[in-house]
Amino acid sequence: MTPGARIQAAIEISEQLEATRERAEAVIKTYFRRRRYAGAKDRRAIADRVYDGLRRRARLDWWVARVLSDPGVNPRTRVIADLALHDGLTPEDISGLFEGHGYAPSLLTAEEQRLASALQGQSLNDPSMPDGVALEAPEWLIAPLRNAFGSNLGHELTALNEEAPVDVRVNIAKGDRVRARTILAKDNIPSEPTPLSPLGLRLEGYHRIANARAFREGLVEVQDEASQLVALLTDTRPGMTVVDFCAGAGGKTLALASAMTDRGRIEGQLWACDVSATRLTRMDSRLKRAGIPARQIRRLCLADSLDMTAIGAERADRVLIDAPCTGTGVWRRAPEAKWRLTPDDLYARLSDQQRILTQASRLVRPGGRLIYATCSVLRAENDAQIGRFLKAHAHFAVLPISGLWPEILDAPCPIAGPLLHLTPWCTGTDGFFVAVLRRDR
Ligand SMILES: C[S@@+](CC[C@H](N)C(=O)[O-])C[C@H]1O[C@@H](n2cnc3c(N)ncnc32)[C@H](O)[C@@H]1O
Repeated sequence: MTPGARIQAAIEISEQLEATRERAEAVIKTYFRRRRYAGAKDRRAIADRVYDGLRRRARLDWWVARVLSDPGVNPRTRVIADLALHDGLTPEDISGLFEGHGYAPSLLTAEEQRLASALQGQSLNDPSMPDGVALEAPEWLIAPLRNAFGSNLGHELTALNEEAPVDVRVNIAKGDRVRARTILAKDNIPSEPTPLSPLGLRLEGYHRIANARAFREGLVEVQDEASQLVALLTDTRPGMTVVDFCAGAGGKTLALASAMTDRGRIEGQLWACDVSATRLTRMDSRLKRAGIPARQIRRLCLADSLDMTAIGAERADRVLIDAPCTGTGVWRRAPEAKWRLTPDDLYARLSDQQRILTQASRLVRPGGRLIYATCSVLRAENDAQIGRFLKAHAHFAVLPISGLWPEILDAPCPIAGPLLHLTPWCTGTDGFFVAVLRRDR
């Protein structure tokens, strides 16, 4: 593809992203499915431009709005601003890309030419930008983010705006980390052990992991180190009754299953629940690859009724709530999500979380544990939810992570405090929160 055609593809994908709530990853995949002529290098360059545009979006929009009131900010003017401010192209270079024929973008309008000229020689960052713009986060979230990160706000938001590495979790039912690393290396995929999770490998560089033997054979599964830690801190063992209450497509169910497997069989009962039957079904191919017979996992769709009598009240040793949340901790992977999030979304998630905590807690047996996790960094979804729950459920108490970590992971705990806050800048992971509660009676 010509450089102009790549720019046009990035503009088209960005337009599609504005019209949907689908993830950028899915939109890009669908776009290329219909354009088989695009080679691997074209796809990578186009995807990078789309993602980088999302990561620089607030600053690009600020510049465009300063220069143009009409047509104002749109995917085309944003790309023109990016070419000028980030790539340092002159107005002539930019006009050369907007050739107006073949697959290239149409010719620059007079206003767009004015934008390219006005931005020549400017730098992307400007000291007069408000915090939300400079830090690439919605302005309405700056106060809650400051509340979460305190004086680390700038470091954390910068780290949340970077591209995440790809981590994989080794399926211990199929082999250990050394073996997985060797097999990945044979496919030219170098990796390093993750610093916190004893089951993780961090891939070096960009690879199509789906083609790798270790992935196809179920020895590794893609999972960020923070998610691996959530599953590890659930501390499941063979013989237990375990409920993954918001199992989705089974990312954590697989990890729990692998910890409960003894000589090829899940020992005990593992329940995977969710309100979405479609998501629960998506678990199938992953289970197959991991070598876990689907019938060994009891799946329960909670959509129609909240009838959990099948599981039985007060029976579970462990109930994991990987709660629906704003996803503010995973902006590294889905930067589009931050620009779609609204205060109403946050309020809706808060009330889901409260309802789920109450429902799921009824399944825990006395002496058992309730593990609450979110991939959000907002205190309202994390510490505040736990505080609220404990006030109304005096028979639950926090088991401090600082004590559990060395017991479960046989390593010193990297954080202080009873509740776990993982963040990209402090722990080099996605932003995750984990609270482990014990039911006393
Ligand atoms: C963070 S995702 C779970 C991700 C999954 N555990 C994983 O590791 O891949 C949250 C899940 O909660 C589910 N959910 C939403 N409301 C729920 C409810 N009231 N009860 C149970 N699950 C719910 C959503 O369908 C979604 O799959």
